[in-house]
Amino acid sequence: MTLDLTQNDISDVVAADRAHVWHHLSQHKPYETTDPRVFVEGKGMRLWDATGKEYLDAVSGGVWTVNVGYGRESIADAVREQLVRLNYFAGAAGNVPCALFAEKLIEKMPGLSRVYFSNSGSEANEKVYKMVRQISARHHGGKKGKILYRERDYHGTTIGTLATSGQAQRAEQYGPYPDGFVMVPHCLEYRKQWDVEAYGVRAADAIEEVILHEGPDSIGALVLEPVTAGGGVIVPPEGYWQRVQEICRKHDILLHIDEVVCGLGRTGKWFGYQHYGIEPDFVTMAKGVASGYAAIACTVTTERVFDMFKDDASDPMGYFRDISTFGGCTSGPVAALENMRIIEDEGLLENTRLMGERVLKNLRELMDRHDVIGDVRGLGLFCGAELVADRDSKEPLEEKLVQAVVADCMGQGVIIGATNRSLHGLNNTLCLSPALIATAEDIDRITDAIDAALTRVMG
Ligand SMILES: Cc1ncc(COP(=O)(O)O)c(C=O)c1O
Repeated sequence: MTLDLTQNDISDVVAADRAHVWHHLSQHKPYETTDPRVFVEGKGMRLWDATGKEYLDAVSGGVWTVNVGYGRESIADAVREQLVRLNYFAGAAGNVPCALFAEKLIEKMPGLSRVYFSNSGSEANEKVYKMVRQISARHHGGKKGKILYRERDYHGTTIGTLATSGQAQRAEQYGPYPDGFVMVPHCLEYRKQWDVEAYGVRAADAIEEVILHEGPDSIGALVLEPVTAGGGVIVPPEGYWQRVQEICRKHDILLHIDEVVCGLGRTGKWFGYQHYGIEPDFVTMAKGVASGYAAIACTVTTERVFDMFKDDASDPMGYFRDISTFGGCTSGPVAALENMRIIEDEGLLENTRLMGERVLKNLRELMDRHDVIGDVRGLGLFCGAELVADRDSKEPLEEKLVQAVVADCMGQGVIIGATNRSLHGLNNTLCLSPALIATAEDIDRITDAIDAALTRVMG
């Protein structure tokens, strides 16, 4: 069966969707009387829905994923060839794309050497939590099992990863959560918690305060997003990362960087942490690894961590007793190999740096015309504009007005995002994450749409 649909078929598809699909993150009451948006096709930065309307996608598939853009035939061809050769065998054995992709990936990640494959960002993060717990059980007599996470960060949708949600609203109503996860303060200087000059160092010191309060012997790992995504596009202030690294080393705490959003190019380097010269013990990634052409997630770690799971071959419980059925699919790593080749051959890291600067410049210019923009933040093609009702008091703009700006852009055929159901009273940041192939014209069209939307919505 091919999916070349006529207009009549498409109406049937929309009816089937309304009747049977439960959409992610959606209240379905409105779909009793209106059609949900159903996308049919994509090419480059552009998408078409079931009504034939064209959109410029400024959010890479809604959630920072389609980094190399839509309609990449070379990825589809590579996946097809691999699927007919060998689609699957469980990850206890090896396969060609996993080995080749692991080797390529490790070339980009000095200091790290082992890749564990799974399916989603949540799962990749859970693997780390399980590794930390097992290290605690086998090497620290049950000590060093707690995991620290940061206010406003997000690490996934499972009960385990929601236990490390720094976004209270996301976690609400899904508890109770497992013990052993402890929150540290966020580092967003725009919403200052300390009145000091060296804000980055102070915000990192706040992590050490939590460590000392809990007892360094009880803490095994610290998980952080390099740039916080859904919590409001937070680029940590200067001095933050260096101090975080010092604190982790001082207290023998493993540093886990969640690159699920930043990973593979979004910030203009392969990984967000590579802007800061830090040496993580774990790096997790998913969304942009294969740009959504196939499901893949990776948990990457050091030889030192890996060795802790093979130190006693006579212990039947001593190795990492974890499996991810679809982590053995070959479509993910083969798509990831081609995705990486495209980023390299098309110079997309450089384009991301240049176009990211253009987004920030354009948004800063909009601040002159729209008082409602309180702060503009970002790194590479990963940018945000925090909207406020009042610039002096920084009172957040009401969520429904923020959503009205997003809806207005959608009406103009430009898809932008906004933080939603993350933080009570603080779902007020517009999010932009266009594909890494974005041109200057694309960027200007996106920020022009925001300009027009702000004018209309704010009056
Ligand atoms: C930083 C971060 N980590 C983890 C996840 C979870 O990834 P997934 O939805 O693939 O489970 C997300 C998803 O948005 C994320 O933004």
